[in-house]
Amino acid sequence: MQVGIDKLHFATSHLYVDMAELANARQQAPDKYLIGIGQSQMAVIPPSQDTVTLAANAAYPMLTAADVDAIDLLVVATESGIDNSKAAAIYVARLLGLSKRVRTIEMKEACYAATAGLQLAADHVRVHPTKKALVIGSDIARYGLNTAGEPTQGGGAVAMLISADPQVLALNDDSVVLSEDVMDFWRPLYRTEALVDGKYSSNIYIDYFQDVFKGYLAEQHADLADFAALAFHLPYTKMGLKALRSVLPTTTPEHQEQLLAHFEHVRQFSRQVGNLYTGSLYLGLLSLLVTDPELKAGDLIGLFSYGSGAEGEFYTGRLQPNYQQGLDLALPQRLARRQRVSVAEYEACFNQQLQWIAADQTIDYQHDPQRFVLTGQINEQRQYLDQQ
Ligand code: CAA
Repeated sequence: MQVGIDKLHFATSHLYVDMAELANARQQAPDKYLIGIGQSQMAVIPPSQDTVTLAANAAYPMLTAADVDAIDLLVVATESGIDNSKAAAIYVARLLGLSKRVRTIEMKEACYAATAGLQLAADHVRVHPTKKALVIGSDIARYGLNTAGEPTQGGGAVAMLISADPQVLALNDDSVVLSEDVMDFWRPLYRTEALVDGKYSSNIYIDYFQDVFKGYLAEQHADLADFAALAFHLPYTKMGLKALRSVLPTTTPEHQEQLLAHFEHVRQFSRQVGNLYTGSLYLGLLSLLVTDPELKAGDLIGLFSYGSGAEGEFYTGRLQPNYQQGLDLALPQRLARRQRVSVAEYEACFNQQLQWIAADQTIDYQHDPQRFVLTGQINEQRQYLDQQ
């Protein structure tokens, strides 16, 4: 029996800031952001969206009534959660109308946790093949205004339905994992922005990729030539390109060209929204599958997941015959319809997010077209609204 990703869907906000405009405002050369970091646009998350609403907005469009009946496990992976005790998944389960018999948990290990959730869900379905599991990676990436990390912010959620006989990608049971205590990026409980040693974190990412990828090749007696494409966690899209380039010399010039061409599809959507933390690898996978006409059923896709702190995992999946049917095919049009905001408007959104924490308040959600929105806080409890 095959188990894997049956459906894959994405949500972000309806707002973005242009990266050339942001570079100018920060007295940086636009090409540093556009080419050196590899980001063209960055999602701007309004105060009416948080980890919970983004997660629910990512999942609901892909779920049928039969899916809702079959789901008995919901994992929300996040490192920008809204509560230190209660799982975001419980709010999301209510907004999605899932059964009260669903196991709902939040998982954390920086940007890696959605992969832990995916593997847990796959094992769960292997034992209970008539059931389905919903795994959502949902985050808002915040480093702070005028910081080196600022052009690598972003936000959004990727929802994945895990089932037997999946439509999109059958997972192989071949993961290689590495985890050690590393201080490359962290966020103490009292902070709303991450702390990061940027250059060090980028070096650790490459070290982890090489370690788990080489481990995979050795364990599976495989080589790079076996892969149609590699998808990467994309904290910024140049990071994935650096990782790919680090292993290219082991294959033929023709295959190198192919892998580089596929990578341009992997990074197409992330270029337009920025870092999603937990969801970034899976937005890369979605981007590859939606935009790349050269892929075909049976292709082997390699996936590298990385979370600072640090944990890395490399694993693979086989593309299924009708994979397009499980995808968020309208995403390119949705991204193109977003509204561009000025740097000043982006800064205002960024600063307004902080106010939730301080006190009860109402949030101006009326201009937010997403189905699920955050309307404010009463008695220190977040208030969510289904606008449909
Ligand atoms: N034209 C073209 N390229 C230019 C340029 C120009 N005019 N000016 C600079 N560049 C290039 C630089 O050469 C550099 O390229 P290389 O990395 O290939 O050498 C690139 O633009 C970036 O320039 P800097 O290194 O000078 O940039 P910086 O020091 O201001 O910051 C950063 C870059 C370290 C990535 C910073 O944005 C950061 O700290 N980001 C957050 C941390 C992060 O994303 N780490 C990734 C690994 S950790 C992880 O993956 C988990 C996670 O999601 C956070």
